[in-house]
Amino acid sequence: MIQLVNEIQAQANVVYVLGAEQKATDLPKMEGLSTFVEEFIASKKESDFAKMGSRYFFFVKENADLEKMRLAGYAIRTQLDAKADNLTLVGNHAAALAVAEGIALSNYQFLKYFKEAEEKAFALKTLLVKGAFDPKVISDLNNTIKAVYWARTMVNEPVSFLTAEQLAKEIQALGKEAGFEVKVLDKAQIETLKMGGLIAVNKGSIDPPTFTIMEYKPENPINSKPVVLVGKGVVYDTGGLSLKPTPSSMDLMKSDMGGAACMAGTIYAAALNKSDVHLIGLIPATDNRPGQNAYTPGDVVTMYDGTTVEVLNTDAEGRMILGDAIAYANQYEPELIIDAATLTGAALMVAGDRASCLMGNASDDVLAALVKSGFAVHERLALLPFWDDYKEQVKSSIADLKNIGGRNAGTITAGKFLEHFAKYPYVHIDIAGPAFTEAPQNYKGHGGTGTGIRTLVHFLSAYKPA
Ligand code: BES
Ligand code: ZN
Ligand code: ZN
Repeated sequence: MIQLVNEIQAQANVVYVLGAEQKATDLPKMEGLSTFVEEFIASKKESDFAKMGSRYFFFVKENADLEKMRLAGYAIRTQLDAKADNLTLVGNHAAALAVAEGIALSNYQFLKYFKEAEEKAFALKTLLVKGAFDPKVISDLNNTIKAVYWARTMVNEPVSFLTAEQLAKEIQALGKEAGFEVKVLDKAQIETLKMGGLIAVNKGSIDPPTFTIMEYKPENPINSKPVVLVGKGVVYDTGGLSLKPTPSSMDLMKSDMGGAACMAGTIYAAALNKSDVHLIGLIPATDNRPGQNAYTPGDVVTMYDGTTVEVLNTDAEGRMILGDAIAYANQYEPELIIDAATLTGAALMVAGDRASCLMGNASDDVLAALVKSGFAVHERLALLPFWDDYKEQVKSSIADLKNIGGRNAGTITAGKFLEHFAKYPYVHIDIAGPAFTEAPQNYKGHGGTGTGIRTLVHFLSAYKPA
């Protein structure tokens, strides 16, 4: 949590973010400290710190590159003792807030499954900020960070805890807290609605699927028709009968609901921030397993909108459940449908874990605005072509579509498969790369990253209906 204050308390650990004037104000009178600061300012160093007794003094030179500032925040978190229970940041500009954001995002820990969690926990709970900041900007930042924390935790939770039903419950709790509506369809309702893709993927599981519908509607929304956010909620992806190998593949697949965490987290943040955009969220959720009644390669599945799909690989399950959800979105006559999904390993071939893959048939303005937001928050989006030529690759000889599109352009053909179900302007974000880190990655964390939320919050805050 970031909290605005007017004073630096005695004995506080302090971060000074030095503006163009290169002057640390409110520096306590301590032996050697002002010399240290003078030397730092004169040096080429971008940041440095001094530990005096038990007190930390961090110094960061402002930089227009906000990512550098977030990384400086991460460095501060790693340098600060885990047991340090206070930190006050002094600064006045956007750069200082980015340092604060970097510290706050780096302060996340997932300790639930450690026997000695308390010993490992950072003592720092609140980052105090002294500076001329708009309290609304600070509270929005806090809300967004809270949503990112939530999404990371969801991704980090194993399937033994986070079943489809549990994920739905967690989203219901968000709705209660932040004041948006949540309705959870159970297996019987999903069957009545004939969501054939979600039912097919769930057939190998002993845990029922869920379909969660969120609605955040402000009093005077700027959009007359909602923006629908769809998130892939595969709580565990074994691949099904087309079973995945274990190392660096199935062993990572608790993260296959990263799209769901992103979209529910975005609506959570939007509701807490009292965004003026009317949003609907749709989360189809299930695990994908090779149980006795599992759907098979060769099956033909009839989707929610009547489209038939020849299943040629049960590991291409994301598009089966998302096809139903996107078709379901059409009833809202939305202004825009956006999905986020850990959809293809091929997305990692495109951009590794450095960027998510963006594509769609929405206007160039919408796509450009998303790219811009991704840059601003450093969750970069690589815009891929989305030509109709790629549709050919998902045509089946015995059904309307097949669920794999061959070796080439796998990320795009998966997007083209999904586009088939959208009757309104559509955007697809394949977050398979950045959603989960196998090794610690700066303030983005280790494990679930919560990627996409900061981008979408930024995008929605500047959103203009078409
Ligand atoms: N969940 C995976 C995609 C994935 C892979 C996400 C690696 C994160 C890291 C998805 O369900 C999948 O298995 N896709 C297949 C599709 C293929 C069978 C057409 C893939 O990418 O191999
Ligand atoms: Zn899969
Ligand atoms: Zn998957």
